[in-house]
Amino acid sequence: MNLTLKVWRQKNARAPGRFETYQARDVIPDMSFLEMLDVVNEELIGKGEDPIAFDHDCREGICGTCGMVINGTAHGPRPATTACQLHMRQFKDGDEITIEPWRAKAFPVLRDLIVDRAAMDAIIQAGGYISAPTGGTPDANAIPIPKESAESAMDAAACIGCGACVAACPNASAMLFTAAKVSHLGLLPQGQPEREIRVQKMVAAMDAHHFGACSNHRECEAVCPKEISVAFIARLNRDFLAASLASGRREPRAGDGAAG
Ligand code: SF4
Ligand code: FES
Repeated sequence: MNLTLKVWRQKNARAPGRFETYQARDVIPDMSFLEMLDVVNEELIGKGEDPIAFDHDCREGICGTCGMVINGTAHGPRPATTACQLHMRQFKDGDEITIEPWRAKAFPVLRDLIVDRAAMDAIIQAGGYISAPTGGTPDANAIPIPKESAESAMDAAACIGCGACVAACPNASAMLFTAAKVSHLGLLPQGQPEREIRVQKMVAAMDAHHFGACSNHRECEAVCPKEISVAFIARLNRDFLAASLASGRREPRAGDGAAG
């Protein structure tokens, strides 16, 4: 296949960006999208030009680094698929493909298609630690966990922190990401001791880093490569409300004040 690429090029966060047009020639349908970019980059390097900068690591849909907007959709046209797992057979000969970085105030462009996603790390960091004791491997079933809770926690834990949900949301909200992270611990017994403080701190970090509120458009769910459900956002809201009410109730308690 021969394709025309319109790629966002930007030297750094302060420089103005622009679309540049490139030809991708002799693209094999079984190539991944990133392999197609590798081939274009080899040609650019051969001509003495700067290669297109893009993030990637595992190329297996696990690490969450390969985010980019392809033809207006975060991670491209195939549902539940990261850009690295997208194959060129999704396109046809002669197609024009537009490739841009995530667009969100919280994700400044570092170069070309690479954005700084440190704001998401800050949300994770705000979650803190869990105080469940570690040590030797406990006996199987020593801590009974209802099957539904275990499965729901695993569904939430599938989030790879790619940021597509933020890029797709008209409000650049990180609520799907935060909800997944809050829920995967909050659903399990080991996550209970810090459950209230965790949700409060993570939501505060989300607000502090310029992520917007949920816009109810469900674009996040539609583009999420791990199919994280917006039901987790509802759960986040319930957890946050319960934690706020509980901390409000606790304030006048003996031990919280100077006399404690
Ligand atoms: S919720 Fe989905 S889209 Fe958002 S960061 Fe996690 S895996 Fe990516
Ligand atoms: S490179 Fe790791 S998820 Fe795409």
